[in-house]
Amino acid sequence: MNAPTASLRGLDLRAEIDRLRKERNAVILAHYYQAPELQDLADFVGDSLDLSRKAAATDADVIAFCGVRFMAETAKILSPQKIVVLPDMAAGCSLEDSCPPDQFKAFREAHPDHIALTYINCSTEVKALSDIIVTSSSADVILKQIPLDQKIIFGPDKNLGGYLKRKTGRDMLLWPGVCIVHEAFSETELLKLKALHPGAPVLAHPECPPHILDHADLVGSTKAILDYALSSPSEVMIVATEPHIIHQMEKAAPTKTFIGAPGADGNCNCNMCPYMALNTMEKLYVALRDLQPQILIEEEVRLQAKKSLDRMLDMAGRTVGQGDVGRPVIS
Ligand code: 13P
Ligand code: SF4
Repeated sequence: MNAPTASLRGLDLRAEIDRLRKERNAVILAHYYQAPELQDLADFVGDSLDLSRKAAATDADVIAFCGVRFMAETAKILSPQKIVVLPDMAAGCSLEDSCPPDQFKAFREAHPDHIALTYINCSTEVKALSDIIVTSSSADVILKQIPLDQKIIFGPDKNLGGYLKRKTGRDMLLWPGVCIVHEAFSETELLKLKALHPGAPVLAHPECPPHILDHADLVGSTKAILDYALSSPSEVMIVATEPHIIHQMEKAAPTKTFIGAPGADGNCNCNMCPYMALNTMEKLYVALRDLQPQILIEEEVRLQAKKSLDRMLDMAGRTVGQGDVGRPVIS
């Protein structure tokens, strides 16, 4: 049982996490959607692709993953000899939930002449059933390396798949999954916000539906959005992705204003990822102390899933920061 107890009261969690990190020879990896205090103590903060690269390359004995379960599982698939802990094992993802492995297997079997290009936001079992994994920052560069006459199934995110279809002109069969967070942005509220801040560019993640992407000046992964926000001469920007990424923007560019795109009620709080929010300082401390909850994967499935992840790393590069930096998309 991993729930923090009253006995943690009074502990200097930051100091204790630092002590355990050294004792355990642990590396703490965090996604941009984590709470600011977790981002601030992590050894590395990044997008899904760079976090996978870090996990594959680390020489630490323990990886404490502040992110969601599919990210921690990816770390374990790539670094099976390491202990990988996830502060809260319930930190799932709506895209993963939308793609049960048995249904995905049946879909593949119904289309034997298609390869499966699969978004990393899925279970280990679905990775094992796939040919090549992509992230939002590597999908474009990987798609360009696949022959034009090759038929493709893309899952589980129909918004990322639809965006890639529009951008590249490739015809792909799309699995109908969505991210509940990016689906929540409201076009009406976004237009009101744009009217209040004329000229402020809109930076959007490709998990957003087309009616939001249609208003974007940049469509890209979390890292691409961050890079654009920091290099843009604009002083005010609208950010259409999970708003915890704004923490990194404000740290690096304190004089600029970053506004989270709103949901239907005009309050961007509804766009926070409820799965990412399950990880806390208390749970991270307990995970490092007890080395629980740990990611464990059956070896045969892991080896099969590793093939599709290795193809991604071979095609997108294994070096942190390498790859698509996101391009302005003005339609
Ligand atoms: P990135 O790969 O852009 O970090 O996205 C991960 C994710 O889960 C977005 O919702
Ligand atoms: Fe999954 Fe969406 Fe949360 Fe990303 S933001 S982890 S896609 S539910």
